[in-house]
Amino acid sequence: CGIVGYTGRRAATPILVRGLKRLEYRGYDSFGIATVGSAIEVYKKAGRIPDSGVVPVDLAGCTGIGHTRWATHGEPNEINAHPHVDCGGRIAVVHNGVIENYAELKRSLQERGHTFRSETDTEVIAHLIEERYDGDLLAAVNAVLPLLRGSYAILVIADDRQRVVAARDASPLVLGIGDDEVFAASDMTPLLEYTERVIFLEDGDVADLTPCRCTIYSGGRKVERPVELINWCLEDTRKGGFPHYMLKEIYEQPQSFYETLRAGVDERVRNLVMEADEITLVACGTSYHTALVFKYLAESLCGIPVRVEMGSEFKYFTPPLHGLVIAVSQSGETADTIAALKMAKARNCPTLAITNMQGSTVTRIADETMLMRAGPEIGVAATKSYTAQLAALMQIVNLRCEGAFDDALSHAHLAIGDVLLQDVHEAVTLCSKAKHVFFVGRGPFYAVALEGALKMKEISYVHAEGYAAGELKHGPFALLTPETPVVAICTPGPTYGVMVSNIKEMKARRAPIIAIGVAGDTELPEIVDIFIPIPDTHLLVQVLTASVVLQLLAYHTACALERDVDKPRNLAKSVTVE
Ligand code: G6P
Repeated sequence: CGIVGYTGRRAATPILVRGLKRLEYRGYDSFGIATVGSAIEVYKKAGRIPDSGVVPVDLAGCTGIGHTRWATHGEPNEINAHPHVDCGGRIAVVHNGVIENYAELKRSLQERGHTFRSETDTEVIAHLIEERYDGDLLAAVNAVLPLLRGSYAILVIADDRQRVVAARDASPLVLGIGDDEVFAASDMTPLLEYTERVIFLEDGDVADLTPCRCTIYSGGRKVERPVELINWCLEDTRKGGFPHYMLKEIYEQPQSFYETLRAGVDERVRNLVMEADEITLVACGTSYHTALVFKYLAESLCGIPVRVEMGSEFKYFTPPLHGLVIAVSQSGETADTIAALKMAKARNCPTLAITNMQGSTVTRIADETMLMRAGPEIGVAATKSYTAQLAALMQIVNLRCEGAFDDALSHAHLAIGDVLLQDVHEAVTLCSKAKHVFFVGRGPFYAVALEGALKMKEISYVHAEGYAAGELKHGPFALLTPETPVVAICTPGPTYGVMVSNIKEMKARRAPIIAIGVAGDTELPEIVDIFIPIPDTHLLVQVLTASVVLQLLAYHTACALERDVDKPRNLAKSVTVE
């Protein structure tokens, strides 16, 4: 979910709605806003914010809050949409996170006569504040926070004040400081068009926001938090003539890879990496796949033991830990990855965060951070953040191998640029007619295959599975038919021969094969149905170019099937609940 707040000299409604539009990638089941004019006014709707960024109401007032939802408690209808209001309509709340003890809180509030409208966990907060509000909103919020268990970033308004009270614990919240106006949001993107000065709140912070003042408290005491300058610009968040953000972001990869590489590795990160005798990576989704690529590369090229763990598994089944723990997360806010990182800290492991989000939660927890330079990624499916993560992780491999890959890495962005022009339409025709598609590879290309399959299923809704090529015969072969394409990544190296054998086995089961191989290969095109060449370069670069081809395949398949590419159903870009 995404939240925004505003208090200042301008009408709040358009600022809130535009802000939510920018946060929509965090969830887009329903949305709502509330403002304070002479009273609290609320507008909520199931579904998405209009593309125009304009809603058919103009709520009065220059102070307000808004929310765009990725449903956790209660279906995504108008009633469950935030903001939630107390019985008397005097308090409105938006919330990102999960209140774990809401059921017991709700029961006791009902016993005390409160009537609930929604099925959400959030509504309890409005009622609890209502009971304690006597004109001092800050005091009322402070009195309620200790009762809440779980995670939250909340924004609260009351009907008689030009004031927003903000609080965070385990969910992100950023303040934007303007001239006689203050903004609050789940991340920096809604703030970009108004200010470059931001404050990242810490867990446990409560902020009292009025147009001219922003006072932050922690543990009941006033604290100073540094004002930082945003390293992104508004232009980065625009589509720039592309039909979808995803395509724009795919095309930005030569630059984002190059910039991430150019940012280098600072001394403290270098020390952490060089001292590690074992590395554990924790991540989710696409970031888990980049971590898996790293495992293959680091173990085979520099002989360092690497373990890769899913954030969601790690917290509850923590393995014995030694050495450096790296959290890989585009957003820096994925709850499962954060939980895993905290476990590693609790075990006294040195920790490193690799993230695209300045000031995000993982940067606050980890000992050190490598900041990717991908710029804002708006499409829900990760593309440029995936290759930028690889840029960061490949630098670690390169460091451990004493710069052996300097040359390969310095040319990688050119090869990525080359494959952007690759024609994939024949493969798209095949995939868009299929019910199931398999993706196979070996070594690092197994991880690339997993990512290719994830991209395909998340945006085209065509069922896709990534497999280690040798494993397909241990079960999935039963599913191979002339209507089940297999995408095989097969490049020169120790696995080439065995990959060719696997491809022949699959052909013998009449599955159409789409092969990604290097330009100039004369054997593969003879045995497969569709051959897609990538430049004949170093292994590290092949990993990147093969991945980009698979992004293009998923993208164009999704377009052919007329899917909502940038906002696939049921998903959110940043999943801030466990
Ligand atoms: C969500 C997104 C994925 C992403 C994953 C992990 O599921 O839809 O694209 O890979 O979260 O996100 P992170 O921000 O931690 O990389």
